[in-house]
Amino acid sequence: MVLLGDTFPNFTAQTNIGEIDFHNWLGDSWGILFSHPNDFTPVCTTELARVVKLFPEFQRMGIKIIALSCDSVDSHLRWISDIKAYGEINDNGFPYPIIADQSRDLAITLGMLDPSELNSEGLPVSARTVFIIDPLKKMRLSILYPASTGRNFDEILRVVESLQLTEKYKVATPVDWKKGQPVMILPTVNDDEAKQTYGNNIKTLCLPSGKSYLRIVPQPTD
Ligand code: BEZ
Repeated sequence: MVLLGDTFPNFTAQTNIGEIDFHNWLGDSWGILFSHPNDFTPVCTTELARVVKLFPEFQRMGIKIIALSCDSVDSHLRWISDIKAYGEINDNGFPYPIIADQSRDLAITLGMLDPSELNSEGLPVSARTVFIIDPLKKMRLSILYPASTGRNFDEILRVVESLQLTEKYKVATPVDWKKGQPVMILPTVNDDEAKQTYGNNIKTLCLPSGKSYLRIVPQPTD
């Protein structure tokens, strides 16, 4: 099981675009690996189509996307036609690779199984995991949805946006934050450093404790 902050394990895998070495494929980009129970399943088909639609946005943010489903490359190639038809996607090709994990070895190694959802052979299917990996190959987010619930990819984009802001500007994003809204200075940044960076843009809330830890600034941009 990979924990937050761990180096994400490297692996080689077959995909619809050939064999990949995961770390080489990632290079120095951020990456998202998201898993699926099987090809030709309804929820998965909607998710992969949605990610095709969001792909330009992920690209703009410097994020490489890769899916995993517990079926063969041949099956993936046939499934891609369905995904494109469902999503009314007319472009040639498919913008991101899908790992073939017919043996489920990777799903087992990466802790992706959902013991409450069994396949026709009575084996646990792969759940809907999302792993976000940073350019140093550290795992920065892990979420695990049951197989029967489709993910919200707007939320996944939101998390990446937040992670990248933290990385660049030492800020955190508050509850229900959306891109463009104010952010908070990280507790690890002292007041002097905060003042140097944000000057008079800092709004510090007065709280009953008298502690000045809620320091709000406009969302920084390049
Ligand atoms: C689906 O993708 O629709 C699905 C797959 C496995 C279990 C439940 C739903």
